[in-house]
Amino acid sequence: MKTKTPPLPLIIITHTLPEDWMISLTDRVRAVTGPLDATRLAAGLEAHLAEAEGLFCLLTIPVQKALLDRMPRLRVISNMAAGVDNVDVAECTRRGIPVGNTPGALTDATADLTMALLLSAARQLPESAQDAREGRWKTWSPGGWLGADLRDATLGIVGMGKIGRAVAERAHGFGMRIVFCDPSAGADGRPPLPDAKLLSFDQLLRMSDFVSLHCPLTPETRGLMDGSALGRMKPTAILINAARGPIVDTVSLTRALTEGQIAGAALDVTDPEPLPSDHPLYKMPNCLIVPHIGSATHGTRRKMAEMACENLLAGLEGRKLPYCVNPEVYEP
Ligand code: GLV
Repeated sequence: MKTKTPPLPLIIITHTLPEDWMISLTDRVRAVTGPLDATRLAAGLEAHLAEAEGLFCLLTIPVQKALLDRMPRLRVISNMAAGVDNVDVAECTRRGIPVGNTPGALTDATADLTMALLLSAARQLPESAQDAREGRWKTWSPGGWLGADLRDATLGIVGMGKIGRAVAERAHGFGMRIVFCDPSAGADGRPPLPDAKLLSFDQLLRMSDFVSLHCPLTPETRGLMDGSALGRMKPTAILINAARGPIVDTVSLTRALTEGQIAGAALDVTDPEPLPSDHPLYKMPNCLIVPHIGSATHGTRRKMAEMACENLLAGLEGRKLPYCVNPEVYEP
């Protein structure tokens, strides 16, 4: 008598990713996939929600109660990101659904991009490159395109997790003084380097020449950089955000830059994201904006996808996710 093999589990992959990043899923799942450029759950995937047992998603897809209600067979959510602010983790935990992320994979790439933003803003790279390209470079100009020195400048790191530490290490190499605070849960209060100094948020804002955000987006950190926080920064200081857009209040930042409350900003993330192309921040020479590319290196994005596949398969096979943000789902 022939034994019947059970059908492979159906999974939803919200975006089309390079096949060789997803190789471990071959022959282990039946996948339905959304388009690469989907900005929301693609309409074509809706018909599969009721049957899907796994969800592989990007940080641009909100996974909230309304979606979970439509996925009664869901057994695992694998978010291809370190941050999981797009997922209602508490609701998933209530339903016993493990949520996976990709911690560590993007630490170096994001720290590298943070330094690139810091250096670009400090030395006015976008404006000076544009001046060169557009014929305004007439001669070596002793007083032209003057920027800020990094040596002995104070870098204030808000959120001293893995990425904050990696930024501190890099900035230390540039001779910067490092101060930090950690407004988010999970702070261990340990200085990452012998000379990094733990300060209150208020002290950090008042002392820093550069303020770089590396905390997760949580109810406590949403709007952390509001008008009051920006007003406590030095007028010569530069704000860097390579964490999550809503940590900075966009209206207050626009005002702070317009009124010269701070000298500049360099943003990898915005609120909303993307920022509409006619937003006033794009017109400000002292505001550099790049399109959420912190983890955008070949190696890092591949590693993130591979980790997300590992999480997905573990969940489908009833094993503990190797990278799980709600391990309490496994508690009896
Ligand atoms: C990217 O922003 C991530 O959180 O992985």
